[in-house]
Amino acid sequence: MGSSPLVAANQSNIFAQGVGEQPAEIPAFEDHLFRHFAFCLFGGSLRNLGAMRVLTGIQPSGALHLGNYFGAMLPAIGLQEQGEAYYFIADYHSMTSLTDAAKRRQYTLDVALDWLAAGLNPDRCVFWKQSDTPEHTELAWLLSTVTPMGLLERCHSYKDKVAKLADGDVGAVNHGLFAYPVLMAADILLYDTQVVPVGKDQKQHLEVTRDIAIKFNHIYGDTFVIPEPRIQETVAVVPGTDGQKMSKSYGNTLELSGDEKSLRKRVMSIQMDSRSPADPKPDADKNIAIQLLRLVAPPEVAADWENRLRAGGVGYGDLKKGLFEEYWKHFAAFRERRAELASRPDDVREILRAGAVKARAKAQKTLARAKQACGLD
Ligand code: ADP
Ligand code: TRP
Repeated sequence: MGSSPLVAANQSNIFAQGVGEQPAEIPAFEDHLFRHFAFCLFGGSLRNLGAMRVLTGIQPSGALHLGNYFGAMLPAIGLQEQGEAYYFIADYHSMTSLTDAAKRRQYTLDVALDWLAAGLNPDRCVFWKQSDTPEHTELAWLLSTVTPMGLLERCHSYKDKVAKLADGDVGAVNHGLFAYPVLMAADILLYDTQVVPVGKDQKQHLEVTRDIAIKFNHIYGDTFVIPEPRIQETVAVVPGTDGQKMSKSYGNTLELSGDEKSLRKRVMSIQMDSRSPADPKPDADKNIAIQLLRLVAPPEVAADWENRLRAGGVGYGDLKKGLFEEYWKHFAAFRERRAELASRPDDVREILRAGAVKARAKAQKTLARAKQACGLD
């Protein structure tokens, strides 16, 4: 944190409105008494000039893919240079869908390797795994007591899971899945987060976080910063091989760390329509392979494929081969860095351990503040 916690120049209330797209100011909460005193004096204008605080998490529930990379990881990696960044592996969350302990352990290391190979710099951000900061689960309890059931019942991700059960049997869904957004709110609020880089599928969860924080602040007094999602429209929803959102749970992913043979196979399995190669395709921009090419190929290469497809005369097989080549090239440096890191897993685990110490120091302070606000001190 910066040295002076109080900058009275800007009188707007960060607890009530969040920070929009503007970085650069974060509240300082090191001292409860000071905070309450300042609130009385300045009507919630406690401000601190400092770095924007950014946080995001990814579950270790499977191999990371293009959607994770462009939707969450790259934007987060860009932001680590601009602010105080907290990036974690959401292993508690993964328990709502994965019950194999050995797999969780392996995926946790894999997610760490993917993040680091993608450019996460542990000197520029705090990088750790969630279960090393158990404060998340304690804060989740406090938050759950102010969270209306209806708010959680309306969550798409929960409703989708229930709908997938043949008889819509809510009893077959675990409580963790229902309470998932509350744990996510705790993840975010514990670090006084202002900005959360995520894909579009997480927008509703961010709204729930904001609602919970506002409710808590209303009941117990200003305690939490109200965060904002940061969703990049161009990559808000990366399509999978079947055209649905690419997701670990839909089996439609292109993995970041897949081997050449299986990736080629996945790319060749991308679903296309039945029009013949000669047909012009005026809707070429909707083609899944074109959308993916736009992400991994130089712009002129992607535009060339799109124009040729639009004009007619290009077979889908050739288009997919072209996509595979670009995909493979795009991640060549990533693969090299990842292989190097994978040869020293203990160093990677040490990075996570060191990150957890830093994360915990911050989490403990915020949790103490929240407990004090509730009369639990
Ligand atoms: P998955 O759906 O594969 O399980 P996660 O839920 O772990 O992925 O998502 C981790 C992050 O990656 C989140 O910020 C999420 O919004 C983002 N993300 C996941 N899939 C996509 C996608 N297809 N397009 C854009 N962002 C995505
Ligand atoms: N729910 C997110 C997902 O499935 C993962 C996540 C957990 C997260 N806690 C978070 C993302 C906090 C951002 C901030 O994608």
